[in-house]
Amino acid sequence: MRDYTLLIESAKEAQGNSYAPYSNYNVGAALLCENGKIYKGCNVENASYGATICAERAAIASAISAGERKFVAIAIVGGEHMSSEAPAFPCGICRQALSELCDDDFDIVLCSDDKTKIYKLDKLFPNGFKL
Ligand code: THU
Repeated sequence: MRDYTLLIESAKEAQGNSYAPYSNYNVGAALLCENGKIYKGCNVENASYGATICAERAAIASAISAGERKFVAIAIVGGEHMSSEAPAFPCGICRQALSELCDDDFDIVLCSDDKTKIYKLDKLFPNGFKL
C-alpha cells in the first residue's frame, strides 16, 4: 500500500484555509497525480449556499486547470473543529466528479483524528453516470 502521509498533511493544510462561516464545517482535500504532484482544495461557502464548492471539487478544478489528467488518490479531512472522530465521506456530487476523471481503483483516503481509512472509488461510487 502507498504511503499517503504527505497527501494527508496537504489535506490538513488545505483544511486550514477552508472558508465555512455558515456551516463551520471545515474540509480540506489533496489530490495526488500520477506524476507525484499534489493539488489542494478546501470548501468555499457562499451566502447563497448553492454557490458553495466542496473541497474535493476545488482540488479537482485546481489540478485540471494546471493541465493534469491522471490521478492516483485523494485525501479528505473534514470536521467542525479541524479534526473529527468520524471521517468525512465525499458527497454524491464529488463522487460523481471523481468518477469522471479517475479509474475504479483510485484511492479515497479518509482521515479522522489519527485514523485513516482507504476506499477504492468503485466501492464508494459504483456504476457512476457516464456519457
Ligand atoms: N463539503 C465538502 O467540502 N465536501 C464534501 O464532500 C461534503 C461537504 C462541505 C460543503 C459545505 O461547505 C460543508 O462541507 C458542509 O456541508
